[in-house]
Parts: sequence; structure tokens; C-alpha cells
Amino acid sequence: MKKYLRSFFYALSPQGRRLFRRFVYFPLDTYFKLRGKIFYNGIELPLPGEIFTGGGDFLKNGFIFKKYFIELGKLSKNNDVLDVGSGLGRMAIPLTDFLDENNKYEGFDIVRTAVIDCQNRISSKFPNFSFQHASLENDLYSSKGKSAQEYVFPFEKNTFDFAWATSVFTHLEPDGVMNYLSEARRVIRPGGRFLATFFLMDEESKKCSLNSQYPFKFKIKNTWYMDKNTKGANVAFDSKIIIDWAKDAGWKTTNVYFGRWSGRSGETTDFQDIIVFH
Ligand SMILES: C[S@@+](CC[C@H](N)C(=O)[O-])C[C@H]1O[C@@H](n2cnc3c(N)ncnc32)[C@H](O)[C@@H]1O
Repeated sequence: MKKYLRSFFYALSPQGRRLFRRFVYFPLDTYFKLRGKIFYNGIELPLPGEIFTGGGDFLKNGFIFKKYFIELGKLSKNNDVLDVGSGLGRMAIPLTDFLDENNKYEGFDIVRTAVIDCQNRISSKFPNFSFQHASLENDLYSSKGKSAQEYVFPFEKNTFDFAWATSVFTHLEPDGVMNYLSEARRVIRPGGRFLATFFLMDEESKKCSLNSQYPFKFKIKNTWYMDKNTKGANVAFDSKIIIDWAKDAGWKTTNVYFGRWSGRSGETTDFQDIIVFH
């Protein structure tokens, strides 16, 4: 049943998937609306049916990552920051009472409605938080636009101290990831950090993930996909190749923190694997 629902869901267009979600969650959203809207720091949080950017508790996950940004990425309140694939502002919202108002937060995303939503809910109250639309194609999220491989981040060299891409490279093709690693290196100042999440394939995750909820069955060179037709649904990369691409992009060190998605044993951090590039 789950398999058929999944095939049906991926057969829809990106916009169709978001509409379908609104439809399925309509009763729950109505309940939330009647019960009263939920706010954090004066910002209205999206309703469950609006959240197309991942499961779990929207606010709680933002706070979990705020901690990773500080502890693993050495984020400080006086940093200028970039959010690659800012979605519905899940990472931005917990930073609105952390970043100094003289420091800037910039986010970009390929879903125009999400960008407008963040501008209305967040930038209107926190003017140092800006969101912009990037017209790019991705078979999960956007049916129109250029390829991520060609995208030049719309910022000058050495603009930021810290940047992140949470649950974005798990939806991009290899050429897009290579380009984004090099664009991040360009716009981040020397000494800056870039934290990104991945599904990383090493011997342990290859073995464990086969019987997990995340079986990546389709492999092309160093890249694994869960859905043959909608490749952007979930993408995993060979962990060694990411380190090579990072070196090629000019990153000097790569710290890997494995997550629990594959069901691997030993110490894990979050669900996806985290890499901090220096
Ligand atoms: C799983 S969501 C995560 C959103 C956000 N980073 C978060 O953690 O809440 C993936 C996001 O990546 C965006 N995205 C997909 N391809 C992208 C690209 N080439 N450049 C920037 N954002 C992209 C999607 O529109 C979506 O908002």
C-alpha cells in the first residue's frame, strides 16, 4: 500500500504534490486554525499541510540544527549567514533571536511560494533576514528553471562567515552538488564554515540501509537514488567522492558526523549525515 501511495505521489507534478499534501492535511490544518495559530518570536509557523520540507516537528528540528550550527559549525551571533535551500524558514526562525540585528541572514530557494511566505512571515518582522527566489529545476520541487549545475549564487565573493544546506544535497544531482560546494566556497569568507547534510554511502551504510526505510536501490556511478523516475526524491553519494569534490572546490578540511538514516551502529548525530567543510 505504502509503495503504491509513494508511486502515486511521485507521479504528480511538484506543485501537484504540494496541493495533494494540503488536501490530505485539510482536517488537521482546520483543527490547528480553530485551536489558534502557533508563533515563535512573533513569527507564525506554517500549518502541517503547508510543510513540504520534511517530516517531524518543524520548530524542534530548527532548534536541533541551531545547536549543530553552534557546536559543529561554530556559528556565532556576529556572523553573516547563508541558508542554501531555505524552504519555509525552518532553520531561519530559531535564529531570529540569536543573530545580531547588524548581521545579515540570506536565504534562497527554488519554490517561489515558500520564498514569498518567508518574506511575509519573517522578513516583515526581522529586516536583516532576506529571502530570494532562484529559478531552478528539480524534479521533486520545481518543474521550471535552469539546472543547479549552472547556478551562480547571487552574492559577492567573501560575503558570509557561515552557510548551511540542510536536506538539500539529498535532492540534488552530482553536478549540482559540485557546483554548490564551489559556489559556497566562493561566497564564504576565508576561515568560514559550510555545514551540509547528506545521505552518505560507505561500507556500513550500504550494508545497513538495504533493509531500512531508506533502501537506495538505483545506482549510477557514485550516486544512489531511491526512485528511478523522480531522482530528486532522495539522493545518496559515495562518502569518498564528496570529500574529493570538496577538495576540488577549495575546501581544506571535511568533518563527517554520521546520522542514523541507514540504521548504522555506533554514535550518530541527526537523521541525515552532517558534513562541516572548512
Ligand atoms: C527537504 S527541503 C529542506 C528545506 C530547508 N533547508 C530545511 O531544512 O527546512 C529541501 C529544499 O531544497 C530546495 N531546493 C531544491 N533544489 C534546490 C536548489 N538547486 N537550490 C536551492 N534550493 C533547492 C527545495 O525547494 C526545498 O525547499
